[in-house]
Amino acid sequence: MLNINNLSITSSDNEIILKNINYEIQDNGIYGLYGKGGTGKTTLAYSISGIIPHYLHYIKKGEIFINNIEVNKMEKNELGKYIGIVFQNPDYQLFFHRVNMELKSDKDTLKDLMNSIKIEHLLNRQIDTLSYGEKKIVILLSNILLSPKILILDEVFSSLDEYFSNLIVEFLKNWVNKKRLVIVLENEKNKLPKGLKMIDFEEILDGT
Ligand SMILES: Nc1ncnc2c1ncn2[C@@H]1O[C@H](COP(=O)(O)OP(=O)(O)OP(=O)(O)O)[C@@H](O)[C@H]1O
Ligand SMILES: [Mg+2]
Repeated sequence: MLNINNLSITSSDNEIILKNINYEIQDNGIYGLYGKGGTGKTTLAYSISGIIPHYLHYIKKGEIFINNIEVNKMEKNELGKYIGIVFQNPDYQLFFHRVNMELKSDKDTLKDLMNSIKIEHLLNRQIDTLSYGEKKIVILLSNILLSPKILILDEVFSSLDEYFSNLIVEFLKNWVNKKRLVIVLENEKNKLPKGLKMIDFEEILDGT
């Protein structure tokens, strides 16, 4: 499903951020990836999702394959079919005034989706009235509507209370059954929801 071969990322200021990463995830499911702040989790997420090199022009060496297709070879406008990402900062990803404008879909699909996470009441709300966690949920749903193969959630659960965390994990468990992969990033293991397949980022950095 996901193959990372000899990935190295160097910033535009020539800082080496990731060096010779090799990692593979074959199965679908929800994975929790934890690692200390500043170690490169977001940079890895940007690389998997194609933001590097398609939008952020860092120097990328090595390859990342999603279902055997190399991310560099995907067209910019095709990336969303393969990978979704919820950014660490939701304000970079919301473009409209109201929730219903962010979530473009037919009425019934949208109603079912909002209902499954119990947030129908937010559909007509103005974006700037949402809490931080609610903003992240709206971005998560806008990604879900694009039906990507891989979805990365960058520090989403640390912004949510237990009630929403549980609802979202249950929703995602069902969603990944359709041969999809979710990777949840946090800087501490105990911020990740229980019961995920856990990956220690240190082990990825060590090249195991
Ligand atoms: N444009 C840049 N130029 C130089 N260094 C950068 C640049 N962008 C990121 N870095 C550095 O790369 C390293 C990894 O950053 P990254 O944001 O990927 O870490 P992270 O694990 O997601 O951290 P956090 O848990 O705090 O979100 C950090 O040391 C950061 O300062
Ligand atoms: Mg980060």
